[in-house]
Amino acid sequence: MTDTSEPILDIRNLTVRFGKVAAVNDMSLTLRRGETLGLVGESGSGKSTTSRAVLQINRPTSGEVWFDGEELVSASRTRLKALRQRMQMVFQDPRSSLDPRMTVEALLAEPLVIFGIGNRTLRRAKVAEMLRLVGLDPAVGSRYPHEFSGGQAQRIAIARALILEPELIIADEPVSALDVSIQAQIINLLVKLRTQLNLSMLFIAHDLAVVRHISDRVAVMYMGRVVELADRDRLYGAPAHPYTRALLSAVPVPDPAVEVHRKREILTGELPSPGRLPYGCAFRSRCPLHAALGRPEVCANVLPPLVPLAPNQSAACHFVSDASAAAARDQRGGVSA
Ligand SMILES: Nc1ncnc2c1ncn2[C@@H]1O[C@H](COP(=O)(O)OP(=O)(O)OP(=O)(O)O)[C@@H](O)[C@H]1O
Ligand code: SF4
Ligand SMILES: [Mg+2]
Repeated sequence: MTDTSEPILDIRNLTVRFGKVAAVNDMSLTLRRGETLGLVGESGSGKSTTSRAVLQINRPTSGEVWFDGEELVSASRTRLKALRQRMQMVFQDPRSSLDPRMTVEALLAEPLVIFGIGNRTLRRAKVAEMLRLVGLDPAVGSRYPHEFSGGQAQRIAIARALILEPELIIADEPVSALDVSIQAQIINLLVKLRTQLNLSMLFIAHDLAVVRHISDRVAVMYMGRVVELADRDRLYGAPAHPYTRALLSAVPVPDPAVEVHRKREILTGELPSPGRLPYGCAFRSRCPLHAALGRPEVCANVLPPLVPLAPNQSAACHFVSDASAAAARDQRGGVSA
């Protein structure tokens, strides 16, 4: 099935530099309307910088960001402010994103006040409705953020992000600071809300296990670039890029019989300094495939572009077909073991 509708978010050749560091490097990515896209990568790969550049919190060095057909990098402050109503963020640590001196009611009503929406009575009703929507009793409105557990505080932060009825949510590691037992509850809440409210969502995490349940597609970032982009089932079932394969090999498999025979790929080799990225493929110093192939020179000399392998999968590796063949061999090995 081809999707002909215009994407809600279209990031084109985005670069964000901090001095010598290219935190995001010529990155292109689209988010379809109603889609949840998981954005995954190790610490420092440029995930937060991407999200901040999309919302123009950090102005990009170059590139374009299109939101619902409007370009944001060149947009005026006034226009950006108006558009910000339709794009909201959820952060990792709800307690630092919620002002401790404000009641929950005031915190939730604040965006409505800023945008001049409704009167006191209407805002009250809307706050109660949002609290119910995220699974909290509206009576908690008179309490303060520190009176809540991490999971409850994240529900409050989500309610606040949703009160302006945005179309796009950017969630930057929204469950990373929570206990594992609470993480699933918050992810399930977001799954419910995205369907109920027809949200488009960019869901950022450093762990592939976290985004699996919620994502329609997943983009894997390494050193400021997308190295693999695929439909969820394709990415987890037949990862193509050696980096994705290494990340996935660290994710536990629920079936203990498979878990026992699972092959783990430990990444060795030095991470390049983000300020001095090597020519060619940035993953070269840690790439098991590069080593297995006898360190071909092309990896050192030519940047591998993100190319389509299948209608629902792209990867940036010169030897991606070799990697896929190796993955298929491993899978067969796994079944016969
Ligand atoms: N304001 C800044 N000034 C200088 N360098 C920065 C700034 N923000 C980010 N960087 C650098 O940009 C790179 C990408 O950082 P970013 O925070 O986007 O990564 P991340 O993928 O979100 O990592 P994490 O998983 O730790 O949140 C890192 O090398 C980081 O040190
Ligand atoms: S291009 Fe070379 S170094 Fe980069 S991922 Fe592929 S095999 Fe590894
Ligand atoms: Mg981050």
